[in-house]
Amino acid sequence: MGKDKFTARLVLAIIAAALGSGFQHGYHTGVINVPQSVLKDWLNSTYEESYGSYLDESFLNVLWGVTTSIMNVGGTIGGLLCGVVSTKFGPKNGLFLNNILVAIATILMGMAKPINSIEVMIVGRLVIGVNCGLNAGLCPMYLSEISPVSLRGAVSSVYQLVITISILVAQIVGLGCILGNDVNWPYLFILPIFFAIFQVITLVLCPESPRYLLGVKHDMHKAEKSLKHLRMTDDIGEEMAEIKHADEAEKALPKVTFKDMVKERSLKIPLLIAMALMVAQQFSGINAVIFYSTDTFVKAGLEGNNPQYATIGIGVVNVLMTVVSVFLVEIAGRKTLLMVGFGGMAIITLLLSIALKFADKDQAIPWICIILVFVYIILFAAGAGSIPWFLVTEIFNQAARPNAVSLAVPTNWIANFIVTLTFPSIESAIGPFVFLIFVILNVGFFIFIMRMVPETKNKTVEEITAQWK
Ligand SMILES: *[C@@H]1O[C@H](CO)[C@@H](O)[C@H](O)[C@H]1NC(C)=O
Repeated sequence: MGKDKFTARLVLAIIAAALGSGFQHGYHTGVINVPQSVLKDWLNSTYEESYGSYLDESFLNVLWGVTTSIMNVGGTIGGLLCGVVSTKFGPKNGLFLNNILVAIATILMGMAKPINSIEVMIVGRLVIGVNCGLNAGLCPMYLSEISPVSLRGAVSSVYQLVITISILVAQIVGLGCILGNDVNWPYLFILPIFFAIFQVITLVLCPESPRYLLGVKHDMHKAEKSLKHLRMTDDIGEEMAEIKHADEAEKALPKVTFKDMVKERSLKIPLLIAMALMVAQQFSGINAVIFYSTDTFVKAGLEGNNPQYATIGIGVVNVLMTVVSVFLVEIAGRKTLLMVGFGGMAIITLLLSIALKFADKDQAIPWICIILVFVYIILFAAGAGSIPWFLVTEIFNQAARPNAVSLAVPTNWIANFIVTLTFPSIESAIGPFVFLIFVILNVGFFIFIMRMVPETKNKTVEEITAQWK
């Protein structure tokens, strides 16, 4: 009856999980971009108060890089903890308890300015990073485990959509005229606590994942109760049988260890592809473009508040394209979209480095830069942004999938960390030519995808993995 439908309680569970968790992930990724000059001034003056001297430009860039990218260190830790937390507490209770980290991080980051401490700010960013790493693993897990099979794809993509929307929200509230000024900026870091409170209140009303209750807790009675609650019907016999069957099939598969992953050819190659795509996603230059877009627009010659508005335009395009990409991947195919994306980004980053170099030569050039950045975002969001996350699950069978995910996800956070940490320093050393590095990388990724990545659209896992046997 309610088997393949969005019941009110299923929708509540999706909203509670995705909005509560995806918001933290997206918001904290985007929040420090728009008000970066205000925050850098604060770093500079706080450093002077604590250590008696002002910062020079290169050290300020390093300190700024640490403040932004420490979140990725936390994200990596959180990602690695996902398996343990989901087994011990369950995906729902894991998400619920994860809000304790939001509370701690909010206190630290909100306090940093009143008590004049850069260190407290950095520790706060680390803690929220751990929270986001856990969210990124637990939330999609919970979403896919509570959904009927026929709705799983759509429901799982809600998390990515909430992330892009939250990045946009962060960029808007970070505007100088809202909270991103030297008086109000601490509130930027306090605001997300309301989403934690929202999640705590709504998750209490949601059941634990039936698959977890059956597969890990071996509690048939509770699993049935949870499923009846979600589907809002007592007629769950068929779905329960499916869940039981899947659980037994999974237990019958031979265990795959991390050692097998790097030794066996049939696992080594897909693992290489999964990790390479995560690295490619981050090294395509997306962070450079998103994190430093405001800066790029200033260098392109935009003045006053205009660079900030242009950055918000990027956020809007990103959200719209993420919605479009949900349909595109089924029509155009994963491999095609990845090749178009990386090939296109190679060309755009080349044009961008040339345009930025000559930014002061002609009045039209700043506008050309802005158009290039927008095209870049469209190319990125059409495939490179979302495909690596789910391709990982498509090129491994059930037995190897958890290990593959727990290696691929931290790879993404680490690659992201390296780019955010090094970009400001390289940028201040070689200027617009920094984008030439991304040109070379994107050409390399294009060739790699062309030669190594299989098309997975409309294929079963068996068909896909057979070629590596
Ligand atoms: C730090 O602040 C001092 C004093 O306002 C200023 O002279 C210096 O240029 C600032 N450093 C940077 C890197 O902006």
